[in-house]
Amino acid sequence: MKVITVVGARPQFIKAAAVSRAIAEYNDMNDLQIEEKILHTGQHYDEQMSAVFFEQLEIPKPKYNLGIVEKTHGAMTGRMLADIEAVLIDETPDALLVYGDTNSTLAGALAAAKLHIPVIHVEAGLRSFNMMMPEEINRILTDRVSQLLLCPTQTAVENLAAEGISAGVYNVGDVMFDVTLYYRDKAREQFPLTRWGLEENGYLLCTIHRAENTDEPGKLGAIFSALQSLSSQLKVVIPLHPRTRKLLNDYGYDHYLQDLYALEPVSYLEMISLESAAKIIVTDSGGMQKEAFFHGVSCVTIRDQTEWVETVSAGVNQLCSTDKEQIVVIINDLLLRQAQKQSKADNGMQPYGKGKAAQEIVRLLVEEI
Ligand code: UD1
Ligand code: UDP
Repeated sequence: MKVITVVGARPQFIKAAAVSRAIAEYNDMNDLQIEEKILHTGQHYDEQMSAVFFEQLEIPKPKYNLGIVEKTHGAMTGRMLADIEAVLIDETPDALLVYGDTNSTLAGALAAAKLHIPVIHVEAGLRSFNMMMPEEINRILTDRVSQLLLCPTQTAVENLAAEGISAGVYNVGDVMFDVTLYYRDKAREQFPLTRWGLEENGYLLCTIHRAENTDEPGKLGAIFSALQSLSSQLKVVIPLHPRTRKLLNDYGYDHYLQDLYALEPVSYLEMISLESAAKIIVTDSGGMQKEAFFHGVSCVTIRDQTEWVETVSAGVNQLCSTDKEQIVVIINDLLLRQAQKQSKADNGMQPYGKGKAAQEIVRLLVEEI
């Protein structure tokens, strides 16, 4: 059986790492062999946004790298569609595997569907119900053309049911939970906090990169102004996505970084280490919200909606607007409550499965395709 895996953006490398490992384990134990070929669209291309994940997470080297770095959504997705189609015509795989909700996901799904190659969508069924987000458009369209819709949560299964989609839908759990469990101890050992001169519970960890927060100068300025004022009471550590660093510079906002501990994007193991010891995580990242939940670290999500609603109902994550005062008030309130409680959040829930999502994905791939 031959499978082409399409990846392009940072979170997809992390998710694909779990499934590629599970495929290798399956091949070791079975006569039927799954031949996986990885296609990297090139969407993320900096060393710290791409190569570092392949090396550290031991992901098989991509057979194809399309090197597509167009700026606009249409040009990027269109070029990916044409180039992925050419590879699929040449390779004639039995299935195509895509992850999440990026432009690379949509281009891969569309190219395969038009060639009648079954599409397997990992992280199917997530919805923010906000069609202004490019990710929401990518998710909905990818789900519509997928044969196997592998959901990370029961909520995702229900979202699909509400859209009339039930065939090929399975709740397999969250592959990112698998990866966190696999690397958690190794991360703390290999990258202790002394690397950054930090102490356990002694800092706020932040990442910001979503278009809705970065593309309007007013919103980005409010977020960074809030972080700057919080930095007088708690160290703010912020690995900066290249998009955010560039826009801060374009808007003339570099001065906001003076009081923050700004880093280049960090590797996955470094991030896991930083997350697990943080006092609080502030983010607009989908992956980071869940990882905060896995580590029992309180999270403030700078977005109006989240697809990971379980983290909110567990009381570990709260949504916050881009209003500077609101950000400061919510974080101060959280710090006060933490000081009273003196312990990390206990989520007491398992909505993201048992850390065996990747094996389940491989089982379904073999049985259903
Ligand atoms: C993309 C995804 C988003 C996901 C994020 C993960 C879409 C529509 N968005 O957003 O859902 O949360 O990846 O990180 O697919 N850049 C570099 N070097 C890189 C990568 C990006 O300099 O290695 C800069 C470029 O200026 C680029 C900009 O960042 O134009 C935005 O990159 P892009 O991939 O378009 O979107 P992300 O914000 O990364
Ligand atoms: N991440 C990382 N280094 C960083 C920032 C994030 O390894 O500097 C990891 C993070 O731990 C999570 C994933 O990247 O596993 C999240 O990706 P991102 O925030 O880029 O995208 P999203 O999840 O919002 O789509």
